[in-house]
Amino acid sequence: MSEVPGYRPETLAVRAGQERSQFGEHSEALYLTSSFVFKDAAQAARRFSGEEEGNVYSRFTNPTVDIFAGRLAALEGAEDCVATASGMSAIMALVLAHLKHGDHIVASNGLFGATVQLFSNIMPRAGITATFVPQTDPSAWEAAIRPETKLFFLETPSNPLTEIADIPALTAIAHARGILVAVDNCFCTPILQKPLELGADLVVHSATKYLDGQGRVLGGAVCGPRKLTEEVFKFLRTAGPTLSAFNAWVLLKGMETLRIRMEAQGASAARLAAWLEAHPKVARVFYPGLPSHPQHALAQKQQRGGGAIVSFEVKGAREQAWTVVDHCRLLSITANLGDTKTTITHPASTTHGRITPEARAAAGISEGLLRIAVGLEAVEDLQADLERGLSLI
Ligand SMILES: Cc1ncc(COP(=O)(O)O)c(C=O)c1O
Repeated sequence: MSEVPGYRPETLAVRAGQERSQFGEHSEALYLTSSFVFKDAAQAARRFSGEEEGNVYSRFTNPTVDIFAGRLAALEGAEDCVATASGMSAIMALVLAHLKHGDHIVASNGLFGATVQLFSNIMPRAGITATFVPQTDPSAWEAAIRPETKLFFLETPSNPLTEIADIPALTAIAHARGILVAVDNCFCTPILQKPLELGADLVVHSATKYLDGQGRVLGGAVCGPRKLTEEVFKFLRTAGPTLSAFNAWVLLKGMETLRIRMEAQGASAARLAAWLEAHPKVARVFYPGLPSHPQHALAQKQQRGGGAIVSFEVKGAREQAWTVVDHCRLLSITANLGDTKTTITHPASTTHGRITPEARAAAGISEGLLRIAVGLEAVEDLQADLERGLSLI
């Protein structure tokens, strides 16, 4: 199925990657098994040596995980996909598979907080360093390149400010120097943006977010041409942060509704963003679908919609932002996003709480900033919930 070209994304999201067993199951089978048996010693030897294709052990491959990987590869238009235990393990695997001691990364200064931690505190222990530059300024990316730069890493739209990186422009700069470009496509998913078509070499996902869509399991993935994903696979099968079969199965069920969720949640986000922008207690709204967004035109060119993340600054600082959060009865106070249940987060004290105040300021995360990941509830109910706190500011 994933090999058949021409199917539209919603069809691929429901069908791609499926391999039926001898039982002819309609729904994807869940293969909860750590290892696989061989018909004889010679076959075991052939499987272990790689001479014969087939499953050996679920740290290496698993049929349910393979269906998930095949489905996501088809959606991203990628030759291959390697599934990982979480979004962070996808990013770690990508970096450790392709970079070595002495290599350097140029990354956006608006990355997800844990990615900033990984690049600035953990990777340097392995001799891999990073320079953070403004997401929206291609000349800053170019200026940060060193002879040892091997990777551009960007996340667009960024979390939580929804800054848009110009994927074709950054790719042109990187490729002129033989540098790989990896894009975290968590916010858009392949329904709204296909980084590989825009020139990127690799796409990473936190499948935990929209691919699951219902806040149930963690997962991640790296998609791209086999010559690049192969290295990621070799790292994973040895280092171990592979996706569990159970999580892959849950993610497959989530992906079946990806297209309709992205559309419905995006439409609600656009309405909520417009409402917030007109609100007297709101200083600024960050949403790529709003004409006031600094990269609105680029977002329209690069994405098939504004997405479902809306951030906004209340008039005031932490106290006023927390007032809004603490008066929510419907919106969930939780850091996750991509769920059918709308969530609200104060980034400066949660997702971005571990980075230094200077780094936070450089990334534009103010104390008055709130991030809403819009779900499937009625927009009017979300507005009423937010109004309770906003009216007290
Ligand atoms: C943009 C982005 N990338 C990566 C991650 C990390 O994913 P995970 O929590 O699945 O490790 C997150 C998590 O919130 C995220 O928002």
